Amino acid sequence: MPLQLEIEFASLTSKFEPKSLVVMDSSLALNKPMQRLDKESDGQISRAIKAMKFTGKVKSSISIAVPVYSDLTNLILLGASDPAKATSNDWLMLGGFAMGKLSQSPASKTASIVLDLSGLNSDTSADVAASVAQGALLRSYKFDKYQTKKNTNKDDEKSERLEKLILHVADPKSAQSTFERLKAIAEGVALTRDLVNEPANHLGPLEFAAQCEALAEDGVDVEIFDQEQLRDIGMHSLLAVAQGSDRPARVAVMQWNGAKSKRSKQLCFIGKGVVFDTGGVSMKPAGGMEDMKGDMGGAACVTGLMHALAARQAQVNAVGIVGLVENMVSGNAQRPGDIISSLSGQTIEVINTDAEGRLVLADLLTYAQEQFNPRFMINLATLTGAILIALGKEHAGLFSNDDKLSNELAECGLTTGEKVWRMPLSKAYDKMIDTPNADMKNVGGRLAGSITAAQFLQRFVEDGMPWVHLDVAGTAMASEKNDINQSWGSGWGVRLLDHLVATKYEK
Ligand code: BES
Ligand code: MN
Ligand code: ZN
Repeated sequence: MPLQLEIEFASLTSKFEPKSLVVMDSSLALNKPMQRLDKESDGQISRAIKAMKFTGKVKSSISIAVPVYSDLTNLILLGASDPAKATSNDWLMLGGFAMGKLSQSPASKTASIVLDLSGLNSDTSADVAASVAQGALLRSYKFDKYQTKKNTNKDDEKSERLEKLILHVADPKSAQSTFERLKAIAEGVALTRDLVNEPANHLGPLEFAAQCEALAEDGVDVEIFDQEQLRDIGMHSLLAVAQGSDRPARVAVMQWNGAKSKRSKQLCFIGKGVVFDTGGVSMKPAGGMEDMKGDMGGAACVTGLMHALAARQAQVNAVGIVGLVENMVSGNAQRPGDIISSLSGQTIEVINTDAEGRLVLADLLTYAQEQFNPRFMINLATLTGAILIALGKEHAGLFSNDDKLSNELAECGLTTGEKVWRMPLSKAYDKMIDTPNADMKNVGGRLAGSITAAQFLQRFVEDGMPWVHLDVAGTAMASEKNDINQSWGSGWGVRLLDHLVATKYEK
């Protein structure tokens, strides 16, 4: 579902909507229009600030219902603490928080946010305004298409959908132009969330591929490979996972060539797109298995990222490759003990059919290198439950053969709030997937499950190719609600990778 909130910027002097929220810093200095409002209401605002002991602390707020002598129905004051210390991520979160406040009580379909901040210069104030707007936009995302009865769920915010948000800022024009790119990124995040939230009966490999194909509208060059083509290419490892499902596999290759030089090497993003993971014959227990509709979170992120890059006309060449399969149980499913081949030529003994993501990614990694010889490869996958045990939902696990790329991602993680934590790789871990029966086996035993999964992937990465594997099993799905996301799918990674591209690899 596309983001439905319309965002506009207006000057501080234009009229506020009946429901307004004023973001104030701890100086509590009222700007001109607020002073006027305060005066007209016989000092009601400044008295409320005093009476409620409002200090402007972050996320503290007071609400003034129907301020006298005004057209307002509700005026909310929201703290922003010290604007000089706040990061862009703080503003993003605050925008989301503000949107949550405005959505809580139904009043009107339009509301305004007044950024009443002292001590910001005009450059940063446009950035601040745009980040606040992006936060609000991300917060407005809802996945309620299958709820036919509205207003049933008490703790949800859909009762009255806010349709339009007007941000009153010092320089609306420059805020608007800064916001354009952030809006494109938010749309990418929303696409990722949609794909993750969609249940597997509605989103199989074909339906996912159709969503990839739709990126052609943004100017992305999209190619979809069907089963026959995948067999001809030689992606036997990926196909072994798909063979138990009645729904055939697809691989989508999405290219965005926005760099000035069309020949400059591509950045490559690869995603695990298991539309549902039963575990196969090594079947998962029933409890919580429904979550495995999110096992395409890596592919969803890659797809959302490609949309974001195209929609904001990123000056970069990038290719996104997603492997779309379903891991099912059937008379034709692969068995434990099967030995399969891969596009790389290496053979794999399948000890556990539930370790399927790595089988999908292996062929995509080989394909990416053969076909594109990219500048780097970053793959994303909801690969192991073990990464949740190690890192919880705070950080995605990062595995890499390249310090520079790892450090860049770590830095971008801190800036965007989509944090990564580097985990080790080494010969000793690699040995754990040796087997006497084939070149490797697909599991390494009980210990270090996330690391042996990464070692498996690394066997498909050529020496000298900068590569990062992000294990997003803890961050892509089953998300805790927060200021900028209330849905099950987080859209994790789109902002992180877009930021990496924008700050380190563009132009
Ligand atoms: N898709 C799962 C990993 C997963 C678990 C993602 C929880 C999100 C939440 C993956 O395919 C899997 O089943 N991994 C196994 C590997 C094991 C068989 C070596 C796991 O983590 O148990
Ligand atoms: Mn699995
Ligand atoms: Zn899986």
